[in-house]
Formats: sequence, C-alpha cells, structure tokens
Amino acid sequence: MGTGKVEAVADKFDLAIIGGGPGGYAAALYAGGAGLKVALVERDKVGGTCLHRGCIPAKELLETAHVFRTVAEAKEFGVHTDAPTVDFGVSQARKQKVIDTLHKGLQGLLKARKVTMFDGTGTLGANRTVTVSGGSADTSFTADHVILASGSGVRTIPGFDIDGKIVMTSDEVLALDRLPQSAVVIGGGPIGCEFASMLSDLGAQVTVLEALPQMLTGCDADVVDVVARSFRRRGIDVRTGMTVNGHTPAGKGTTVSFGEGEQVTADVVVMSVGRRPLADTLGLEGTAVEVNERGFVVVDEYLRTPEDGVYAVGDLIAVRGMNGPHPALAHVGFAEAMIAVQHILGEDPTPMNYSGVPWCIYCHPEVAFAGLSEQAAKEAGYDVVVSKHKFAGNGRALIIGEADGMVKVIAEKLPDGKAGRILGVHMVGPWVTEQLGAGYLSVNWEATPDDLAHLVQPHPTLSEMFGETVMSLTGRGLHG
Ligand code: NAI
Repeated sequence: MGTGKVEAVADKFDLAIIGGGPGGYAAALYAGGAGLKVALVERDKVGGTCLHRGCIPAKELLETAHVFRTVAEAKEFGVHTDAPTVDFGVSQARKQKVIDTLHKGLQGLLKARKVTMFDGTGTLGANRTVTVSGGSADTSFTADHVILASGSGVRTIPGFDIDGKIVMTSDEVLALDRLPQSAVVIGGGPIGCEFASMLSDLGAQVTVLEALPQMLTGCDADVVDVVARSFRRRGIDVRTGMTVNGHTPAGKGTTVSFGEGEQVTADVVVMSVGRRPLADTLGLEGTAVEVNERGFVVVDEYLRTPEDGVYAVGDLIAVRGMNGPHPALAHVGFAEAMIAVQHILGEDPTPMNYSGVPWCIYCHPEVAFAGLSEQAAKEAGYDVVVSKHKFAGNGRALIIGEADGMVKVIAEKLPDGKAGRILGVHMVGPWVTEQLGAGYLSVNWEATPDDLAHLVQPHPTLSEMFGETVMSLTGRGLHG
C-alpha cells in the first residue's frame, strides 16, 4: 500500500487499528462507514491471512479439486472426456487472480471510507500512542481508541522445522507450483482435513496423523464418521490417536515416525497443528493490556482490554470467562470488529454468542454446523431429541451425483417428550457450507421445530433437507 505519509504524524485519529486482516479491515470499514477518522497499520497486505494465505486461496484450490472430480466422473452423465490432468501452475494463477481481484476491491473500499493506511509494523505504547516502523516511513500518532488485530501465525512441533520445501505449513502448500505425489498431514483439524482432501483429490497419496482419538474434534461424531468413511474410500490413510516422533530425510522426501515404531515416507509434510497468536510484535510496554500464558491478548465480552480505550479482536484474543478456545475464524473476527466499533461509538452491542457461531469446513464432503453437537449437548446436561436425514434420499443430491452425507438437528427434549429449542444443526455433504444459513438462524434465534416446520422449502433443492429434518422433529414428516 505504501502510503505512510510523514505529515500524518500530526494527525489524531478517532480509531487506530493494528493489523489489516479480517478483524482489522472489518473494523476500519465499519468505523469509516460510521464517520470515524480511522488509521489502519498493516505490515504486509490488507486482507491478512484469510485473503492471502488462508480461507480464500485454500477454498480456491479445493474448488480446483472439485472441478477435477467432476471431470473425472463426467462419463457417469454420458459426457466423455480424456482422463483429467492438472496443470497446477494454471490452478495457482487462477487462485492468484481471485486474490488480486478481492485485494483490489478491499483497497478501494478502504479508500472510499477514507481510512488512512500506514505500511509497517505497528506497536502500541502508553496513552494510545501507535508507532509504525519498518515500512515506507517511520511515524507515530495517537488515537482516542485502538483495536489490536494482529492475528495469528502458523504453529509447528519440535523436530519439524519448516523449510518450506519438505516440511511446510499452509503458507507454503498454498503457494506450491507443483503437486507432491505424496504427503503426510500432521493434525486432522479443519486445515489438515481440507489439505488432505485437496491433495488426495488431485492425485497425491495422503496420510493424516492426528493425536486425538478422532479427527475434526468439536464436530458431531456422526458428521466425522461420514468424512472419515469418505476419506477412507478415497484412499486417504487417517491414523488417529497417534503421537508423531520425528522425521528423517529420505530420497526426495522424508520419513515420518509415529506411534509405536511406525513410519511413513512422503514427498512433503504438511503441518496443521493449529495457529499461535501474534502478540509479540505489538509492543504494549506502558499499557495495561494483558497477554496470557499462551500468548493471547485477554479481552472482555465487548472486546475491551484492561487498557482504557484499547480493544482486541480476531485470532489474537482469548475472551475472559469463555468456555473452550476462542474460534479462529475470519467471520468471528468480522463480528468482533463490529461489536468493538459499536462499543466505541457508545452503542450497546450484543456480545458474541461464541457457542452459536457458524463453522464451515471445505473438505470433500463439506462440513457445516452451528450450535452444540449431540455429545456436547448431553455433556451440558440437556436431554435431547435428534433427527437425521441422509442426502441419499434427496432428489437434487442424486441429480448432482453427490448423495454422501446428512443433516442432523438436535433439539432440547421437553418434559412431554416433544422437541423444544433447537440446540445444534450439523450438516455434511454437498454444498452444505452454502446451506447452513437456515440452521444458523434457527440455533441463534432459539427457534423450535414448531416455529419452523410450516415454512416452505423450495423443491428440488439440497436445502430442503434442513426443512425435512426439522419437520420430523414435530413428530410428523413427509419423506422420513
Ligand atoms: P486445530 O487446532 O483446529 O486442529 C489441529 C489438530 O492437530 C488437532 O486435531 C490436534 O489434536 C492436532 N495435533 C496437534 N498437535 C499434534 C501432533 N503433535 N501430532 C498430531 N496431531 C496433532 O488447527 P488447524 O486445523 O491447524 O486450524 C487452525 C485454526 O484455523 C483453527 O482454529 C481452525 O478453526 C481455523 N480454520 C478453520 C477453517 C474452517 O473452518 N474451514 C479452515 C482453516 C482453519
């Protein structure tokens, strides 16, 4: 961006934001739209991990895998082609074009909201003084309010130094110019499953090593079963409950040792064992901002740090009193940014309901959910009623040739045995990431099946499965 003008030093801002990822740029756009005078400090490119090294590039390459599968299976429809091959250079160029288009759009939006951009690393000192260094011009300024949004970086484990060639993180995988023939994915969370799915669909032999007893921890067990079965069918070797011990270079790749003396050799190792907050570059000397023992900036339900006028949002934060880890999701960063800005504006925002946030995982088959899993609902002490419908009975799913998956709705069981408030909606299957909307609303509006069952679903659609599943919770359904 390169617009860190020295004359801006004299400026005082209503709001200064450090970090231009989804949390930071959402705060800038929202505050700019509300008429605040905003400064945004970014050391790389606005858009952050999500746009340049995360959500957008990962989903773009997963779409490449989708196209490949579609072409490979075209003969089922009587459409004959040669066996597909992948020119990954072209795939990468397409991915970059999508990123560049969005990046340009975002820069335009920030300009239109009159956000002053500073390129460099921002640090926060006493009295809400922000210092920018390492960019085109060192400078400092003060602001009435500050939002810290420096995000997160990749994490690795001992013995696996990231060399970017054999041992890589999502950053390097998303920039590969050639596909590896084989990969060991360490960590079976959302990132691990998305990469395993993409690399396998594009022809690589993939092994997933997960330390916990199941992959996709936090997802409903029935949903995980569907993904695990699909991975198995497609030749992805998922090994759960496995401790990874180390690796030794072997040929053009490396041999990873795990479990009780087991080994697997592959061209590359993909590290997807979670992310770590980037609070260490924020300065914070002379402020009351609290960084906990795991490196997260601690905030309250309005995203306030203990330093007057200083807020923090996104992957950087831990929320005081919250059950479980803070979800490291771009859309959570967006939502937190808006709450923080509303609070700065003196409004009375509703704090985030973290247990209701939507989750979308873009492996094949896709996973999407909001609210409690069946296990989590029971652990929370709820008596539950559950309804499940498989895509195998859905017309549109059969038409598109993707009938693997289901919709599962969990409701609180009322004393009379009927289904009360909907506690969780869990989907796995074709395009479920685009179908979660109704489920998300029903969980967060605390709707009951009776509230929803009379609403009409378009036919034939994949999304009518949600209506059908909810309807059966009233005791009467149409198709099952
Ligand atoms: P994660 O923390 O969700 O999953 C990491 C997995 O690695 C866990 O299952 C953990 O048990 C396992 N693990 C940790 N150490 C291990 C070891 N030494 N050996 C074997 N397994 C080990 O982190 P992930 O998947 O890297 O994602 C990072 C963050 O980004 C998460 O918060 C995730 O929610 C978010 N994200 C979400 C996406 C989505 O919703 N589509 C996509 C990508 C990221």
